[in-house]
Amino acid sequence: MSSDASPQPGNPVPPIGIIGGTGRQGRGLAYRLALAGRTVLLGSRREERAREWAARLMAMPRVTGTVRGARNAQAASAALVIATLPYPAHADTLGTLRGELAGATLIDCTNPIRRTAAGIDLISVPAGSAAEEAAAVLPDTLVAAALHHVSSASLINPANATLTGAVPVYSDHPYALEAACALIRHLGALQPYQAGRLRGARDAESRAPALITASLPHADRVRTDHPPTDQAR
Ligand SMILES: NC(=O)c1ccc[n+]([C@@H]2O[C@H](COP(=O)([O-])OP(=O)(O)OC[C@H]3O[C@@H](n4cnc5c(N)ncnc54)[C@H](OP(=O)(O)O)[C@@H]3O)[C@@H](O)[C@H]2O)c1
Repeated sequence: MSSDASPQPGNPVPPIGIIGGTGRQGRGLAYRLALAGRTVLLGSRREERAREWAARLMAMPRVTGTVRGARNAQAASAALVIATLPYPAHADTLGTLRGELAGATLIDCTNPIRRTAAGIDLISVPAGSAAEEAAAVLPDTLVAAALHHVSSASLINPANATLTGAVPVYSDHPYALEAACALIRHLGALQPYQAGRLRGARDAESRAPALITASLPHADRVRTDHPPTDQAR
């Protein structure tokens, strides 16, 4: 079985499913894959919503591939699937798709974070990381974790012609490591690398609050709408 996500001459190009694809990260990844000529099944709980977003993505500049709206279950039936779900919905949603995801490779982008008045907090995950939690609820799926720090704003920006940067990929399965790296090479000039076992996602996920905070405009980073502490006064 080839892990290369590139189109092969004479072979039909398999679609890539995105669970929770109508959100910011899913739309950004779908756009980049469509720029690279790939077919994307943009998944949602509501097919109509997915179709609306798919049509908007298809109208964006330089799209050569196809984005089709789908239910999450249809998206999860692809051989290569990306999960872009908010952490609170992550394990339950993946658990309900266990049958569809059996035998697939899943690339999980989930950061277990919550936004509070004070900023962005990491949620403690009993399994160690959201990715390990996914692997626990999906025993028949090859789970990889990647793209935790590639921002949706960069992905969706047509003026940002080449995305650059190193992208660590974690998995306990060599095939999934290769498949995820091959897919990420389609997203611009990103440089994926095999960073080790799935438990390494703990490190990537734990760095998300600081990295997201640093990328926010200053006014959003330093909130002043909560009571000042004694120290701040
Ligand atoms: N945004 C970024 O720049 C970025 C970068 C790296 C990683 N990530 C990670 O990627 C994940 C998605 O981020 P996002 O910003 O795209 O999130 P989002 O826009 O808030 O949500 C993504 C999608 O998840 C679905 N969803 C929401 N609540 C749900 C629920 N209770 N049950 C099932 N599905 C639900 C929704 O799709 P439907 O309503 O259509 O079903 C929604 O469009 C997060 O874990 C985030 O940490 C995000």
